[in-house]
Amino acid sequence: MISNFSNILINWYQQNLRDLPWRATKNPYKIWLSEIILQQTRVAQGLPYYLKFLKKYPLISDLAKAEEEEVLKLWQGLGYYSRARNLHKSAKMVMSDYKGVFPNTYSELIKLKGVGIYTASAIASFSNNETVAVVDGNVYRVLSRIFGIFTPINSTEGEKEYKLLADSLLNKDNPAEHNQAIMEFGALCCTPKKPNCLFCPFQENCYSFQNNTIDSLPVKLKKIKITKKYFTYLILKNKDQEIVIHKRIEKDIWQHLYEFPLVTSNTKTTLKTSIKNFEILLKTTLKPKKFKLIHEFEKPHKLSHQHIYAQFYEYVGNIELNLESFQKVSINDFNNYPIPVLISKFVDKHPL
Ligand code: ADE
Repeated sequence: MISNFSNILINWYQQNLRDLPWRATKNPYKIWLSEIILQQTRVAQGLPYYLKFLKKYPLISDLAKAEEEEVLKLWQGLGYYSRARNLHKSAKMVMSDYKGVFPNTYSELIKLKGVGIYTASAIASFSNNETVAVVDGNVYRVLSRIFGIFTPINSTEGEKEYKLLADSLLNKDNPAEHNQAIMEFGALCCTPKKPNCLFCPFQENCYSFQNNTIDSLPVKLKKIKITKKYFTYLILKNKDQEIVIHKRIEKDIWQHLYEFPLVTSNTKTTLKTSIKNFEILLKTTLKPKKFKLIHEFEKPHKLSHQHIYAQFYEYVGNIELNLESFQKVSINDFNNYPIPVLISKFVDKHPL
């Protein structure tokens, strides 16, 4: 561990900092405004918006009184308009719940709409010198490189590890300046591409400089795209206590497991559509009146790439099955067949 990390950092900051207006104030309203704008854009593009907003709404009460449309108009060009709407809502909330006094403690700030862990830490430390370390993209990069941390920054483990390290390095006498400094250092020196290692005050102690890992840090897990699927299962029962099942042959995680007749969709469908699809699947006609909804899971069944919303219908009747891929088995024997967890969860709730 670098014993004087914060001193080196603050020393660098005092010699290299950009003169930015939100750094010249302790007013939590102004700092909040700057942070919300900077969530959305870079400093150079955000600066004119910050000045525009403060000119139009010098006080939180001015922002709270404004028409939403006017706030959105002023935000125009920054994109992601829910941020502007949250900004406006939070201003109203501060007027009603905090008598117009903008909070400056982490525990109160985190309650505001659009204010997450990073933003609450930033505002509380900058405006109130509260000892909470900020961890944003800049901080992840700086810490991963200097300390050689390979835990992915977007994993639960990584989030904890970085937060612990950032807190342990925080200068308890001057959290405001320390937090500004580490972000500025990431923005100006320890940049994503071509960092300025030649003039870096941590060069000697930097794991990445010494081990040539600058380009591979920080590690970020590629987020897989998760799709929603809507599954409708049909429990076809006859009077002889038999049900219809099918062995999956598709080469997927459920290959060779057994299931009830199933129709799937990428969108929520009506029963009418599902019935039509079951008729195609089973090559038979079915009576809509006989479909009885037995269970619908409220929460999706989560697989690595899919979130499955499943519902189960029962249909009691004698059906002629002329397909080889379906078979009738006695309900008592059903337990012996390997089935996906989703189906066993259902069977636990609703024994057949
Ligand atoms: N990005 C987010 N907050 C910032 C700040 N206070 N100064 C510079 N860049 C920032």
